Amino acid sequence: MNICFVAILGIITVLFLLKMLYVFCTAWVIRITRGALFVTTPNIRIETFLQYIPVDHGSSVVDLGCGDGRVLRKIRKHFNVKALGYEINPFAYMLAKIFCCRDKKIRIKRRDFLDKSLAEFDIIFCYLFPDVMEELTIKLQNEAGPDTVFISCNFPLKGQMADQVLVPEKTRHNEPIFIYYF
Ligand SMILES: C[S@@+](CC[C@H](N)C(=O)[O-])C[C@H]1O[C@@H](n2cnc3c(N)ncnc32)[C@H](O)[C@@H]1O
Repeated sequence: MNICFVAILGIITVLFLLKMLYVFCTAWVIRITRGALFVTTPNIRIETFLQYIPVDHGSSVVDLGCGDGRVLRKIRKHFNVKALGYEINPFAYMLAKIFCCRDKKIRIKRRDFLDKSLAEFDIIFCYLFPDVMEELTIKLQNEAGPDTVFISCNFPLKGQMADQVLVPEKTRHNEPIFIYYF
């Protein structure tokens, strides 16, 4: 058999298995994630909000549903902060652990963030789904510290006016980014 054909077949098989793993893991946690699939925030959007939020060295940052950890890695590239990612999807969690393993200041935990206190964080980021934003709104109102900055990609908090709404220009990734100062 032609070696090129075998190589292509091997690549297709690996991609297919990865896709199946993604689908299985997503379905497994769908009750917890309530529709927030593992989709990553484009770099242009991360860079946009990083220009606007005040990040002090030593700040504590959390990504609620960190996917493959790219937001945390991007923040850590620019700032000397402590970063934590909660991620419930085993596939995304595994990727985040692999991609973030060289940075000792990034911790990734396979937990439902709704069960965890958010009181200790200076900067809270999320890119979730409307179904979870109402519960998250109440949680933040109860737990966020007085100087906490909260950033939400695409979906606002329920019944709370954002202090800033950013819309990245000249890009197809121009959904709003909501920023709240508690
Ligand atoms: C749209 S992705 C965003 C990933 C990453 N934050 C980013 O911006 O690139 C949302 C992620 O949140 C995770 N997620 C949703 N609800 C969660 C929960 N209650 N606890 C932990 N992770 C959750 C999902 O598994 C998914 O990977």
